[in-house]
Amino acid sequence: MKKETWNSKIGIILAVAGSAIGLGNFLRFPQQAAQNGGGAFLIPYFIALIFLGIPLMWVEWALGRMGGVHDAHSLPEIYQKLLKKPFYKYLGVLGLFLPFIVFVYYTYIESWCLAYAFFSASGKYWGLESASIWTFWKSYVGIEQTAFFSNILPAVLFFVITLLINLHVLAAGISEGIEKLCKTVMPVLLVLGVIMVARVLTLPGVEKGFGFLWNPDFSALKNPKVWLAAAGQIFFTLSLGFGVIQAYASYLKRDEDIALSGLTSSFVNEFAEVILGASIAIPAAVVFFGIAETKEIASTGAVSLGFNTLPVIFQKMEGGRFFGFIWFILLFFAGLTSSVSLGQPVMAFLEKRLRLDRRQAAVWLGVVTAIYSIPVIMFLSRGFLDEMDYWAGQFFIVAAALIEIILFGWVIGIEKGFEEICLGAKITVPSLFKPVIKYLSPLFIIAILGGWLVTELPKIAKAGDPVVWASRIVMLVVLLIFAWLLKTRSGEE
Ligand code: ALA
Repeated sequence: MKKETWNSKIGIILAVAGSAIGLGNFLRFPQQAAQNGGGAFLIPYFIALIFLGIPLMWVEWALGRMGGVHDAHSLPEIYQKLLKKPFYKYLGVLGLFLPFIVFVYYTYIESWCLAYAFFSASGKYWGLESASIWTFWKSYVGIEQTAFFSNILPAVLFFVITLLINLHVLAAGISEGIEKLCKTVMPVLLVLGVIMVARVLTLPGVEKGFGFLWNPDFSALKNPKVWLAAAGQIFFTLSLGFGVIQAYASYLKRDEDIALSGLTSSFVNEFAEVILGASIAIPAAVVFFGIAETKEIASTGAVSLGFNTLPVIFQKMEGGRFFGFIWFILLFFAGLTSSVSLGQPVMAFLEKRLRLDRRQAAVWLGVVTAIYSIPVIMFLSRGFLDEMDYWAGQFFIVAAALIEIILFGWVIGIEKGFEEICLGAKITVPSLFKPVIKYLSPLFIIAILGGWLVTELPKIAKAGDPVVWASRIVMLVVLLIFAWLLKTRSGEE
């Protein structure tokens, strides 16, 4: 079989930027910033970007490119080839488990964006105020039966369409599927983002919104919660710790630049997050609801900001149907280029271990995702999905990043690792990043995990609803199945 590669440098940069730019940029970031002290949030955020985000990005690109030389395209395979001892490959299981779990719930949320694009264009929720728009959303996702939607079929239909689009792209392969998608969609996405920002900037009184978001309050730096949230956002937004960047980079040629490419894709993501993402939802919310209420909205979460607050705003705004459509299509595109990246490591693994072709692997991924989505959809209101997001989208990506940076800096060795980052580099990587990767970033991550355990562990153990425990058990089973496949299917001819 012909070896897959990226067709162009811009293709991989846009694919990694596409993986990074997602719902996290336009919903999670503004919500986190508003909830964690507005401008104060940006200080730990940028510190985490420089000392965690950028070094880890380079580490992940380097691991991927090194693995690709040995035809390894998912994290356990990469660890197996690079680190020799069989035990290491099991550490890489997180690089399948995490993207898969996130793929399942992320595609479901992505499908809401597609649905809401139609609802905005057709004016389906027009005439609904803050309280009733909540009911509209609850009715759509099947939490409440109302006159808006008598059953969950529309949600299921949009989910199936979204899943099929994802699988279609994945089945087409790296250059023909993912690269083509990202080259087409990413420029459109950025233009849509600029259109939305331009609209928000013309709202009267918008400067209050920007003032709220950008005025730093240095006292917030004393609060560990703000640091945890900022670092968590850096991981999520840059798609670090998931195992997806390594999978993408494994299709690079041996001496292709990764230093500048990694940096460029991170900057594109930061532009989409800090410039575009921060300039839409929150400033608009401040204009229509004021600062106090916006803080309250942010505390109810990113989903509520995107699917409840903004639809109310669109109804009050001139040209609201058009801008509502643009906003949700923007979210859908952002989600799509991220979700395909989450599907890719599992695809590569299934192809190799089960000896499937891409189409067959896509069918497998589709069937398992569809089955898993049943409890996700049915038990949404009882926290089945939230639990998946908590463990896979927040906690374990940080833990996986700790494992990989230790393996890179200490087992492969920082000298060899740094040489690898610099191989073919189109920029000079400051050697300061050697101690950063070897000592500072791992210590930073350990501090984050430590802080997390102290604040969260008591809450986690207390969870009373059996649905929450069921969600945890299903995840554990998925993890064990991946480990079992890794043990029993060698994947070697
Ligand atoms: N990085 C992706 C996002 O921000 C997962 O949504």
